Amino acid sequence: MSWNLQKIPSCESTNTVLKDKLISGEFSVGTVLLAENQTKGRGRLDRSWLSPPGNLALSFSCPLPAKPESVYELNLVMALSLCRILQNDYHLSAKLKWPNDVWVGEKKLCGILSDSLPQAKAVIIGVGINFNSLVTDFPKDLQPILTTLKQELGQEQDQEKFLKLLFKEFENDFQKFDELGLRVFLDEIHHNLKFIGQKVNVVTQNQKDFVGKILGIGDDGFLQVDTLEGIKKVVAGDIVKV
Ligand code: BTN
Repeated sequence: MSWNLQKIPSCESTNTVLKDKLISGEFSVGTVLLAENQTKGRGRLDRSWLSPPGNLALSFSCPLPAKPESVYELNLVMALSLCRILQNDYHLSAKLKWPNDVWVGEKKLCGILSDSLPQAKAVIIGVGINFNSLVTDFPKDLQPILTTLKQELGQEQDQEKFLKLLFKEFENDFQKFDELGLRVFLDEIHHNLKFIGQKVNVVTQNQKDFVGKILGIGDDGFLQVDTLEGIKKVVAGDIVKV
């Protein structure tokens, strides 16, 4: 897959606009939409996503994988592409925090949100990166839990350089994933998974929270947690270190 970048100054959400334009036929699969400003950025579980000036908000449109569950797996692949760039090119200790965040140290740097679009045979992978902003640009309650690239590296970063790296890395990873599936990434996920081997509280959507030790990600893409009642597979939710 080779990506075709479209830039716009402002929109509600790059995922939403890309979705509309794929449905109307204005854009085709492979288009990546980047907005300098999002007025209604969306996060997982109906949360909102804030991107102060200087941050990156972009959405990739990829061909819809054959298996519906692969959409979920593609989030992990994108998180891995981001981790690799942050580690190799920026020398940061980036980790994949299940299900689809990238953390540096104990703080969130990137969030990923996918939207499936069967009518356009596409899946949208939206990426928000706290890039050239400072932690103090965010509301006070969010400041303790996030970081930015500028903050981590002590100076403003080149967006073009980062985008070039991300396009290349995700192009390679997408192709590999499309041909061979998630299994070829499992070792790398294992080595880069935040809180692996540690005790966490798993907060699930049905509100039945439980505590357990993270074992890793199975070849089905689900989180595996060792609990007093045996190994549990988690499809969706959040994890909090205890
Ligand atoms: C999360 O951490 O909950 C996911 C955040 C995803 C944010 C990105 S920014 C680009 C794209 N457009 C959106 O509205 N959301 C995603």
